[in-house]
Amino acid sequence: MDKFRITGGRPLAGRVSISGAKNSSLPCMAAALLTAEPVVLHNVPYVRDIITQRRLLEDLGATVLTPELRTHKITAAHIEVFEAPYDLVKTMRASVLVLGPLLARFGKAKVSLPGGCAIGTRPIDLHLEGLQHLGAEVNLEAGYVVARAPAGRGRLQGAEIHFDKVTVTGTENLLMAATLAEGKTTMHNAAREPEVVDLAELLNRMGARVRGAGTPTITVEGVEALGPAEHTIIPDRIETGTFLVAAAITGGELELRDCRPEHSATVISKLREAGVEIEEVNQSTLHVRRGAGGLRARDITTEPHPRFPTDMQAQYMALMTQAEGRSVIKETIFENRFMHASEMQRMGARIAIDGRTAIVDGPVHLTGARLQASDLRASACLVLAGLVAAGETIIERVYHIDRGYEKIEAKLRSVGADIERLRESVTASLPPTEIGVL
Ligand code: UD1
Repeated sequence: MDKFRITGGRPLAGRVSISGAKNSSLPCMAAALLTAEPVVLHNVPYVRDIITQRRLLEDLGATVLTPELRTHKITAAHIEVFEAPYDLVKTMRASVLVLGPLLARFGKAKVSLPGGCAIGTRPIDLHLEGLQHLGAEVNLEAGYVVARAPAGRGRLQGAEIHFDKVTVTGTENLLMAATLAEGKTTMHNAAREPEVVDLAELLNRMGARVRGAGTPTITVEGVEALGPAEHTIIPDRIETGTFLVAAAITGGELELRDCRPEHSATVISKLREAGVEIEEVNQSTLHVRRGAGGLRARDITTEPHPRFPTDMQAQYMALMTQAEGRSVIKETIFENRFMHASEMQRMGARIAIDGRTAIVDGPVHLTGARLQASDLRASACLVLAGLVAAGETIIERVYHIDRGYEKIEAKLRSVGADIERLRESVTASLPPTEIGVL
């Protein structure tokens, strides 16, 4: 398993280009199952989860071509398998996103229940309830969800769906299912994340009739069939936020290109409160540096978009170890998302955990240590902590970070970080330009 070795203490300086959003690419790739025509997606990041999703689509019978590294042309003309198996779903929960499209187009789908993951139990009950409202028959068989379109009609039926909780992939799954349902579907308390809006834009390009994406109420007028489309994936707002923190935590100065500042509005305003200077140079460029007054502790509570994203909680906690004063970090989305805290404690951080609340006292001098990455965003947090820690930090199990960050060590190195990937296999001798490519 690969590791990162980081020698901290270098302020970052330079330009970084932000990749396409993983969490938008995954549903958009699944949406290609809704039509026999080609769907071309540009700006898909080159990360492990995308390779996993591609494999799943190919296993189902779709053809996936990559004329360029970040362009995927998906044609689901000959789907022969209607199942997302346990082995795939357990490595990537987002593979449950094939459920809605398969059921809507073919009237049947079988998807493994995801079970627990490192950040807590993550059920899909709301996806299943919603599909039942659309008339699907849903059964649980040996750890699998087996869903069928209503007997006799063969097609899902538009309905009113009220989500008890805001769920991102739940909204996306139901949104895709509703595009081919008969009649109108209205989703209440829908997720408002930019990735949901991006998916709706792709679906509308394919001929769907979706309105209201980005608001809590989404309506979909079902159509008989969808057609070909070409779409460019939005920039990754979590990668953007991670690099904003990277500049601030190292006392450096970065220009982030190819991002969408409006998608990171809450993170940007919270970082500004905490003493980070962020300038919106134009609609796709941010300039960031630590303010002259230093970093100040500020509290956050993670909540669904447009509030502070849970996917930035770990990185923000790393920053707060360097801020003056006490910050209170509340995690309301997932019940077990503080694993990075105990790793940072081993570097000297003063963090007390009480249930879903973390209390961070700063600033402290972090010292390098040997650390274990536990999940995707926690690994980003440990990299950030390593960048500011004195001495050497080794982060094990970086396959977690490879799931969602494109060449993070190459990007960090290009702006002055002392970070390298230690490979355990024969590829250890690859030249530097190859290192970081999965
Ligand atoms: C998505 C993101 C993930 C992010 C999360 C929260 C993708 C691929 N992943 O995950 O990066 O951390 O949103 O913004 O886009 N819940 C239920 N029942 C359900 C579904 C969800 O109780 O059927 C609960 C979950 O346990 C959690 C909350 O709702 O407490 C939010 O989960 P959800 O928005 O569904 O997260 P994901 O879509 O899995």
